[in-house]
Amino acid sequence: MARASADARQEFSADFVRKFIDKEAFRRQSNKVLHGHPSPMHWKPLESSTAQLLDERAGYGMTTRHEVNLYVGTPFCIKTKPARCGFCLFPSEDYEGNKGVEAYLGYLKREFDMYKPYYSDDTLSSIYFGGGTPNLYRPEHYGRLMEYVDDLYGGIPSDIEISLEGIPQLFNEDKIKAISEAGINRISMGVQQLNDELIKYSGRRQTRQQVFDTLELCHKYNLANSLDLIYGWPEQTMENMLEDLQVAVDAGVHHITHYELNVAGRSDFATPKNRSLLPSIETNIEMYRAANEFLTSAGFEQVTVYDWRRIPEEKDAARLSSYDYEHNMHDFVHQEADKSATTLRQVCGIGYAAVNFHPNSLNPEDRNWIYMNQTSLKDYCDDIDAGRFPVGRGFMYSPKDVKLAWLFQSMQTMKINFVQYMSIFNENLLDTHRPLWDELDQRGWLSINETEICFEAAGQYYIPMLQSLIASKRLDEIRASRKQTVSNIAVVVE
Ligand SMILES: C[S@@+](CC[C@H](N)C(=O)[O-])C[C@H]1O[C@@H](n2cnc3c(N)ncnc32)[C@H](O)[C@@H]1O
Ligand code: SF4
Repeated sequence: MARASADARQEFSADFVRKFIDKEAFRRQSNKVLHGHPSPMHWKPLESSTAQLLDERAGYGMTTRHEVNLYVGTPFCIKTKPARCGFCLFPSEDYEGNKGVEAYLGYLKREFDMYKPYYSDDTLSSIYFGGGTPNLYRPEHYGRLMEYVDDLYGGIPSDIEISLEGIPQLFNEDKIKAISEAGINRISMGVQQLNDELIKYSGRRQTRQQVFDTLELCHKYNLANSLDLIYGWPEQTMENMLEDLQVAVDAGVHHITHYELNVAGRSDFATPKNRSLLPSIETNIEMYRAANEFLTSAGFEQVTVYDWRRIPEEKDAARLSSYDYEHNMHDFVHQEADKSATTLRQVCGIGYAAVNFHPNSLNPEDRNWIYMNQTSLKDYCDDIDAGRFPVGRGFMYSPKDVKLAWLFQSMQTMKINFVQYMSIFNENLLDTHRPLWDELDQRGWLSINETEICFEAAGQYYIPMLQSLIASKRLDEIRASRKQTVSNIAVVVE
């Protein structure tokens, strides 16, 4: 690739790019799971009320088509020692019994009702019951959850993907049957490790047999199924990792999410004692490569840096291995091939810690935003009792942030269609980041064809680091503008 001379339109110099990569490549990246822009660390209470935002969104809805991925949050998790399974960085609350669950469902229904004036005309594309641990619910609760959705949207399209996530030890035939009868058609099971010794680091009382039993039940009730596995786990070897993948494939799983362990914050896995048990970054890169090779040879197709789907043998089996909820977001500004129509795909989140991502319009004058519900159950309930939407923090996107959000979603798929980027944002991405593409090309981390930038080899593994690089200038601006606001109004917010 020819090296371009410095250009005022370019965000980064070649020197900046090289130094950034040399410095960061051997540091553990945090925020690898579902990396978006900007990280929730930069979100703050929004200046407009949620009702104002929703009124504004309704206005945009008249001119632009929206499709909605609905997320329904569950706060509870079974207590473990160490806390939060030792590694988890997601918000959750300790499960203290069914009374708390019943009370939560009452609040959840009230929040669904608050959205009736705003969401009932939307078209649902997929539904995800996430958490926390949604398979803590009793069999009779699944139908109730689906009724809440049905009541808000005035029906649920018959052919959409409806997922529910959970942990292996809490599934049984009564629940799987109830889940299936409620109309949920996909199970995502957080397994992490199939090895009964290695899983003990998480403090979970989980066995490999429970995973197989649940998968069998999924097959019996015709539920699409997916396993979350983690590599880079304390004391995990390459052999352990490949054995887990092999048995998952042999058990007929339809989809595998293969995350690298994200080590951060105050989790038990981040303590110095446990850090010393983690495979090195070099080993993790080797594991990433070996997992890719294995899964490809086992008839799986890589869809994102961490998602793998079984290539279906028959056409009607394709539904089983797809993962619409997430993949719709990778293409959240969806253009028809002939550009005759553009659909903006949103996430509407209801429940504890749920995120609402509202790209409303591509007009630079219009507003787009993201916000997250309260991550303390008490705050969530207090807000609803006070008649307020239980929203905690959020972020208002500038036009530049919308581009970054699109770019990051696209990068999860390991390629960027720069022709489409030009068509949506009227900007030549090859020019904007030319020094970056040149540097990655030299390292053998990408190739460029007529329409796409394709990440290759370790370039795929390093996508979260490359996202941090691309966002770095904008994040500096966001930090600086916050400091300015703080000094203007003379309060300390951080
Ligand atoms: C937030 S959990 C919710 C579902 C369920 N409670 C469970 O544990 O599977 C969803 C998935 O996030 C992934 N996850 C959570 N923390 C992670 C971390 N620190 N590193 C990598 N993956 C993580 C795990 O694979 C987990 O299955
Ligand atoms: S990994 Fe799952 S079960 Fe464990 S704390 Fe996180 S959300 Fe809860």
